[in-house]
Amino acid sequence: MFEHPDLLVGCGTPDDAGVFRIRPDLALVQTVDFFTPVVDDPYLFGQIAAANALSDIYAMGAAPLTALNIVAYPACALGMEPLREILRGGSEKVAEAGAVVLGGHSVEDQEPKYGLAVTGTVHPDEIITKQGAAAGDCLVLTKPLGIGVLVTALKGELLGAREEKALVEVMAALNAAAARAMRQVGVSACTDVTGFGLLGHLREMALSSRVDVEVDVGSLPLLPRARELAGEGIVPGGAYRNREHFAPFVELAGEVAPAELDLLYDPQTSGGLLIAVPEPKKDELIAALRREGVPRPRVIGRVAGEGTGKILVRGK
Ligand code: CO
Ligand code: CO
Ligand code: CO
Repeated sequence: MFEHPDLLVGCGTPDDAGVFRIRPDLALVQTVDFFTPVVDDPYLFGQIAAANALSDIYAMGAAPLTALNIVAYPACALGMEPLREILRGGSEKVAEAGAVVLGGHSVEDQEPKYGLAVTGTVHPDEIITKQGAAAGDCLVLTKPLGIGVLVTALKGELLGAREEKALVEVMAALNAAAARAMRQVGVSACTDVTGFGLLGHLREMALSSRVDVEVDVGSLPLLPRARELAGEGIVPGGAYRNREHFAPFVELAGEVAPAELDLLYDPQTSGGLLIAVPEPKKDELIAALRREGVPRPRVIGRVAGEGTGKILVRGK
């Protein structure tokens, strides 16, 4: 493991991005993310992959500055036009974030993969990590859950055009507005909800903050039809892997339906920010999120007190 006086957040913590101080008042925030296509439309795939890669910068309370494309692509099999569309989608999303694509690197591969290495900046005193959640904080989630379930349904051609559009909109939405709101209000901790699902990412936050947390199933924001589809068993393999991995730290109270539990473990492609905020600032944060344009921010639970990273899931 590297140690350096200016390495503020490195490999030793489970945070979303690394942070390195280059001046007393300025630190670089760096992250990389790429994956295989989640939708057929190459332009939209580019948008979603870029929103996802940028998200780790926002989760740290930073502002994106520059980005580099990472491309694996079967040029002979697919031709260059889809790749141009992927890159157009990505660079337009980066531009929407106020950042710039500087270049990138591509390799020939049998399966397309796309993402970006993103650099952002933050004042060293304003870094937001996973480890600041404290007793009495409320937990706020800024995007609905069920993305993995709906992507699985989309691949099985089980979604209508309207549902597909709603899903793509959620995945392609930047977490920029949510990040602006949390920086205005001042929060205790933040991470973005992606592959490990809500409970996996919440576990990381709770463990590194040395607290125990509670989630209210009734308050979870869900994508349209997510519950119904999960109930029919349209659940991605990643949800079961997450459950296997994180269930030892999760306790259930009351009635939690199997479909609801699946959604708590559902891997999210480009999910929302999960924010811990002191209770007295909760309403201010929700108001700021709405004002910045986050459509459905929700309080989904609370930090119960100091602890070892346990999660209590409260059903009806
Ligand atoms: Co992340
Ligand atoms: Co990431
Ligand atoms: Co190169």
